[in-house]
Amino acid sequence: MRIKDKKRFIIACGGLATILILVIVVLTISFWHRNETQAEADRKKDSQTTTQTATTAKETEPVTNTQPAVTEQPAQTETKEEIKTATTVNTTGADSITILVNKNHSISASYMPSDLVTVDLPSTRDTQLRSVAAEGLTKLFKAAEGAGLALSCCSGYRSYETQSELYAWNVDTYGVDGAELVSARPGMSEHQLGLAMDVTSASVGYDLLESFGTTSEGQFIKENAHKYGFIVRYPQGKTDITGYAYEPWHLRYLGADVATAIYNSGKTMEEYYGTN
Ligand code: DAL
Ligand code: ZN
Repeated sequence: MRIKDKKRFIIACGGLATILILVIVVLTISFWHRNETQAEADRKKDSQTTTQTATTAKETEPVTNTQPAVTEQPAQTETKEEIKTATTVNTTGADSITILVNKNHSISASYMPSDLVTVDLPSTRDTQLRSVAAEGLTKLFKAAEGAGLALSCCSGYRSYETQSELYAWNVDTYGVDGAELVSARPGMSEHQLGLAMDVTSASVGYDLLESFGTTSEGQFIKENAHKYGFIVRYPQGKTDITGYAYEPWHLRYLGADVATAIYNSGKTMEEYYGTN
C-alpha cells in the first residue's frame, strides 16, 4: 500500500471508530433514560395503589356514629307508611335514643350516658338504664303486672370494660364463632348505650333462655313492648341480618313512635333503617 493510501485507511478507521463510539454513547444514554422514566412511573403506580388500599381498609372499618335517627311523630294519627315517610336520617351521636349500634356501627370506648339511673323494678341485681328508658320499662312492667305477669330485670347498662370481660368470657367458653352469636364486642353493644335491658321471669328460673320466648311473659313483651318504647331487638330467624342468635329477652329502647313503627313493619332495626 502506498503511503498516501495508508494514511487514508487510518483516517477512515479512526472515523469509523469515532462513529461507533458515538453510537454506543447515544444508545447507553437512551437506555438509561428509559429506565429512569419507567422507575418513576412504577413509583407513581405504587403510591396510587397504597392510597387506594388504605381507603378501602378504612371503609371496611366499623362506622362510628353515622346512624340514622328519627324525628318522632305521633303514631296514632298516621298509617304505617306515613310513619316510615316521617322518619328522617341524621347523624346524631351516641346520646340519640335511636342510634343504631351493631357489628358495623360502634360507639367509642369512652362513651357513657350522663343520665343513668338505677332501675327501681324487680331485678336479679342492681342495674341501670338511661332515665327515659327506665321510665318506659317501668310502664311496661306495670302493664305486665296488670295482665297478671311478673317480669324481672337482669342486665341493663354495661360499661365498655364490663362488655370486654363478658365478650372475653364468651370467647373462652364458646370460641370466637360461638361468642359472636351471643355477645357483642366491646363498643358494639346496646347495653353500653344504657338503652337495652335483658328481662326474665320466674318461669325460666330468672335465666336468659330462648324458651323465655314461649312463656306468657315472653309473649307479652313481644306483643306489647313497643307501646312503651321497646323492641325485641334480636328476633327469631333473623340471625343473618342482626348477626345474633334469637334473644327474646333483649329489649332495646327507641321511644314509642319508632319502636311502634318498627314493630308494625315486622322488620329488624337494620332492615328498617336500611343498613347493616
Ligand atoms: N347479647 C347482646 C348482643 C350484647 O352483648 O349486647
Ligand atoms: Zn342484652
